[in-house]
Amino acid sequence: MRRLIAGTGWKMNIGATQAARYAAQLAPLVAALGDAIEMFVLPPFTSLPAAKQAFSSFAVGIGAQNMHWEASGAWTGEISAPMLVEAGCRYVELAHSERLEHFGETYDLVRRKLNAAVASGLTPILCLGETAEDKRRAVADDILNEQMSLALRDQPPERIPTVILAYEPRWAIGAAAAAAPDYAAERHRGLRKAVSDRFGAEAAAEVRIIYGGSVTPGNGEALMAHADIDGLFVGRAAWSAEGFADIAAIVARAAIQRKKQ
Ligand code: PGA
Repeated sequence: MRRLIAGTGWKMNIGATQAARYAAQLAPLVAALGDAIEMFVLPPFTSLPAAKQAFSSFAVGIGAQNMHWEASGAWTGEISAPMLVEAGCRYVELAHSERLEHFGETYDLVRRKLNAAVASGLTPILCLGETAEDKRRAVADDILNEQMSLALRDQPPERIPTVILAYEPRWAIGAAAAAAPDYAAERHRGLRKAVSDRFGAEAAAEVRIIYGGSVTPGNGEALMAHADIDGLFVGRAAWSAEGFADIAAIVARAAIQRKKQ
């Protein structure tokens, strides 16, 4: 049974002082959930020390939103995987659409980052998603397969379940509405099949595929009603502790529901 996930990326929001406040507000709201689900927050780099301290007392892991593929060296302005580990990170997000769009990152570059992340013991959260044009041309599944295959090319099958895949349709990020739950579930199924074809049925059965892109407390339940959606990855709706707690509660209810089935 796959452990469900509620995660949030803060993007370039929530500085150190605010991060401590967020954690203090979140703690009592999610205390009852215990370890029923996996939870993570991805603060900006400068908020990591505050977040490490503030989240240490309860079950929310912290991670970064990006990293460099080398461990150290002459790379002005960059941060490496060992530095993230030292800062208390358990996760690192890779290939977010804003990195691809505004910073020219490619999935080949993401492959190198992912290799460095796993070598340092970080859990990569690998974003995959089609553009609006890909969707219109009905090639979303092919695109997801290509992105996944390239980014994970150097990984052995047994490593796959340690990576979190995040289906994030690029047209649904920061948008007015999420993907329709049926549409998202179809992509998750297609992606799991692609993982199975490439890495085997066991890896595919175990790997978590979470959905991100305009998730809200209003649409989260319908998304989590689909068995192939293993969690919610949230931007705007979880930039307040209350918002993230609402999302975590939805995922926790889905976990209870699935255990009964
Ligand atoms: P959003 O962001 O929830 O604000 O659309 C999602 C994301 O960027 O992963």
